[in-house]
Amino acid sequence: MRHIIDFNDMTMDEWNSLYSLCREIMANPMDFRDELRGKTMASLFFEPSTRTNFSFQTAMLKLGGGVFGFSDPQFSSVSKGETIKDTVIMCSSYADVIVMRTPWEGSAKAASLYSQCPVINAGDGGHLHPTQTLADLTTITELRGSASNLNIGLCGDLKNGRTVHSLIKALSRFENVSFFLISPRELAIPSYVRSFMNENGQKYVEVSNLESTMPQLDVLYMTRIQRERFSDPAEYERHRHAYILNAQKMKLARKDMIVMHPLPRVDEISQDVDGDPRAAYFKQAEYGLYIRMALLLSVTRDGKGLPEFVAPEVRPHACHNPRCITATNPYLPIINKQENGTVCCGYCDKEI
Ligand code: NCD
Repeated sequence: MRHIIDFNDMTMDEWNSLYSLCREIMANPMDFRDELRGKTMASLFFEPSTRTNFSFQTAMLKLGGGVFGFSDPQFSSVSKGETIKDTVIMCSSYADVIVMRTPWEGSAKAASLYSQCPVINAGDGGHLHPTQTLADLTTITELRGSASNLNIGLCGDLKNGRTVHSLIKALSRFENVSFFLISPRELAIPSYVRSFMNENGQKYVEVSNLESTMPQLDVLYMTRIQRERFSDPAEYERHRHAYILNAQKMKLARKDMIVMHPLPRVDEISQDVDGDPRAAYFKQAEYGLYIRMALLLSVTRDGKGLPEFVAPEVRPHACHNPRCITATNPYLPIINKQENGTVCCGYCDKEI
């Protein structure tokens, strides 16, 4: 049984076959219309979503499968105090695949311990968003031929943007990628991502100026300042207009640079960029649908299986990240991992 918690759980061979399958689907979508007939996807969205939720639901429907779930936890038993463990045990007995988004870091990993069917992480707080990464890699590969040999600028809220964290980790598997991390100092990438980049020999510079960086880029990946992850609203106000890409600034970019954005945008890309042939963000959302169809097909291929019994732990968790799933679900088993001499939480990846 295959869970998708982090892109790097996949081998490069698996990514290449997923991408080939995606291309087959794009070429002849109707050939796949009955592939998942009789199968069901549980769509558990504890946080708002338009693209990811709709794109997974559409993907399942286009494969002939069915969908149930919620997009607002107020309409689920979670609002009555049900644990994530119980929700997952129950839903996985009905479904063939669970797609889950929550505000808690490491929640998809926690869910996978109890699930009878594959769990796909559709975003766990500010941590990871591997299926957005699949959409991003598909876009870069389709529009540029390869995700290797790339100068990529990641701009905006790099501290809280999970799509950026996932993409950085995934691009460690590709050759000769240079990162330009463009953010206000207060919204720079978290230290665990920086450690990951150092350990993996990834080339990067951290800068705050977008305009001076633009001429060097093959890809500019804009992101929204993540209002919901700020504990201090004044801090959000200080940064909300940090970067605005407009048609004027696009004149500084290479003729073949592409502009990406996981969406939703607020005002970090102005409307006058939409008509520019280099604007790839809506196409990116469309590629997301096809790669998610490929993903649903491949994870459901092996069927279901009972998870191993996980005994509840009584010891307190050592992870001090208040947004980690272990902070609110103390019964979870303690999972730590060692990364180059540093002990990290096996759920949220933060250093312990
Ligand atoms: C992103 C997310 O949810 O992290 N959106 C998405 O999945 N397409 C980006 C964001 O919310 O800013």
